[in-house]
Amino acid sequence: MTPIEEVIINKRTSVNPVWIMRQAGRYLPEFREIRKTNPDFIKLCLNPTLAAEITLQPLKRFNLDAAIIFSDILILPYGCKQKVEFKKNFGPILADLNLNDLSKITESEFTSKISPVYKAINLVKNNKLTKNKNTIGFVGAPWTLLVYMINKQSPKFNLNNNFFKDKILIQQTLKIIEKFLMVHIKNQVDNGAEIIQIFDSWAGLLDEKDLDFYVYKPTHTLVRFIKSLKIPAICFPRGVKDYKKYCEIVKPDVICIDYEVSPSKIEKEITIPVQGGMDPKILLTDKETLKKEIFKYLDIFKNHPYIFNLGHGVLPQTDPNLMEYLVKTVKNY
Ligand code: CP3
Repeated sequence: MTPIEEVIINKRTSVNPVWIMRQAGRYLPEFREIRKTNPDFIKLCLNPTLAAEITLQPLKRFNLDAAIIFSDILILPYGCKQKVEFKKNFGPILADLNLNDLSKITESEFTSKISPVYKAINLVKNNKLTKNKNTIGFVGAPWTLLVYMINKQSPKFNLNNNFFKDKILIQQTLKIIEKFLMVHIKNQVDNGAEIIQIFDSWAGLLDEKDLDFYVYKPTHTLVRFIKSLKIPAICFPRGVKDYKKYCEIVKPDVICIDYEVSPSKIEKEITIPVQGGMDPKILLTDKETLKKEIFKYLDIFKNHPYIFNLGHGVLPQTDPNLMEYLVKTVKNY
């Protein structure tokens, strides 16, 4: 069994597995090198050889316990023929959503449009660098994908005022997202993904009263689906106020926490395995500060099944040497 499986399945507390959200990305010079000659981000995600190579880049440098496949949550709208572009220093821009067109997409059209992602997973899973490590697949949560598909760009701090205006559009789109999420998850698992992480980056935007419809219900359905494939589900509902309630309703195998919640409160309230939490900005400081903060998390969770990770993705300004120091510090704890 891998160290991550020891934590998730056997609830072991004496192993300290580690992987990092966005571990393959702009903070690595070898990623920027590939990016220079591949300006179209989606095209890069759909190049299986390069996507697999990028996925494995951090594993060549650091003693990480998982490879997370190099792709994006927005590959789902792309597979549904909604154009997605990434503008430098701005983020994603999506084309207008047309419900009529969206309703006509078939599962096989979707799968064939993004099949290089599955090929990349296969290459990663069968590479010797992932031996005794896990290959993690992922999706965006229904709510977060709905936000991007309707808002057509990052909501930053606020949703467009009339976001909820067209109820039909919202409800039908959500249904279609749920359907293709299951297809996308199944395809990833069939091609070697051993764990699925669900990213709900914008869960924190909703009022308490709306969580049930947009977050709890659809995410619980997905978690049940992932479990039916005999695969663990990790949920990352960034910014939710009540992680305990989230876990009770959604029932993930692992809860990934953001850096704004108190880890000791989580440790007391939540019994399932926990992942993550440390503020990615700590990686912009120095070794002493970093070591103290790593120890803080490992001490708090020393009697709790825990996977070390950050409370959001690693920042592009991060020094890879500090990342190396982080992984070594966790492993030598
Ligand atoms: O974690 C990994 O290493 C796996 C790959 C991965 C990417 N995106 C690659 C990526 C994963 C798991 C994601 C998830 C993702 N994508 C989320 C959820 C997590 C989160 O950050 O909240 C979201 C909201 C997206 C959508 C997205 N993709 C945005 C908003 C951006 C622009 C912001 C940015 O960092 O530039 C992206 C681009 C993106 N996705 C990059 C990478 C490596 C940067 C691309 C580049 O410019 O080279």
